Amino acid sequence: MEKKISPSIMCADFFDLEKTVREFERLKIEYLHIDIMDGHFVSNYTLGTDFVRTLKSKTDIPLDIHLMVEKPENVLDWFTFGKGDYVSVHVESTCHLQKVLAAIRERGAKPMVAINPATPIFMIENVLDDIDAVLVMTVNPGFAGQKLVRSTLKKTEDLRKYLDEKGYENVEIEVDGNVSFENAVLMSKAGANIFVAGTSSVFSKDGILSDNIGKLRELI
Ligand code: DX5
Ligand code: ZN
Repeated sequence: MEKKISPSIMCADFFDLEKTVREFERLKIEYLHIDIMDGHFVSNYTLGTDFVRTLKSKTDIPLDIHLMVEKPENVLDWFTFGKGDYVSVHVESTCHLQKVLAAIRERGAKPMVAINPATPIFMIENVLDDIDAVLVMTVNPGFAGQKLVRSTLKKTEDLRKYLDEKGYENVEIEVDGNVSFENAVLMSKAGANIFVAGTSSVFSKDGILSDNIGKLRELI
């Protein structure tokens, strides 16, 4: 499956954001990962509805909107998204999972279901027909700069097997959290194909953006 990079924009230098996005366009980055947090599902706030609307109007790079919010079905219409965009909702955040995934598809975007490190794979068993991807949280959600929960590597491998055995070879796997240069190699081997890259790779202070992206592309 084609390997894609989705830089986590909450990790970008906001004072340099336009330059960063133009660089991503030049380097043909596949998605922009937009973390939305409500202070309830996770104890943090990050980017918001106006940010998404502005970004959508300024670039053609598809968005990868990660809703870390309680009851996401109540907020979908607050956001600007459409064809080619991914919108992910957490299985742990709603009792109407199938309904909200179907609503994302009805609005023209691609539904993605997200699972926290402790959430077993079988929790998504009854929505496999409603998704285009699974977001495997490789850290506990809420903050950048955290360390990999190592058990999620085996979980990613099990998920790829689970999907393939059930005939869902086209369902993509996105990994999100401490996607460092070292961890990305392991995550790719485990079967992930979309890499949410934040402080430990694309936005690492040890190199310049274009070099970091080139290095990550080589490794995955
Ligand atoms: C965490 C977010 C991630 C985070 C990634 O809840 O979903 O996208 O910003 O940051 P790093 O790569 O530093 O873990
Ligand atoms: Zn995220």
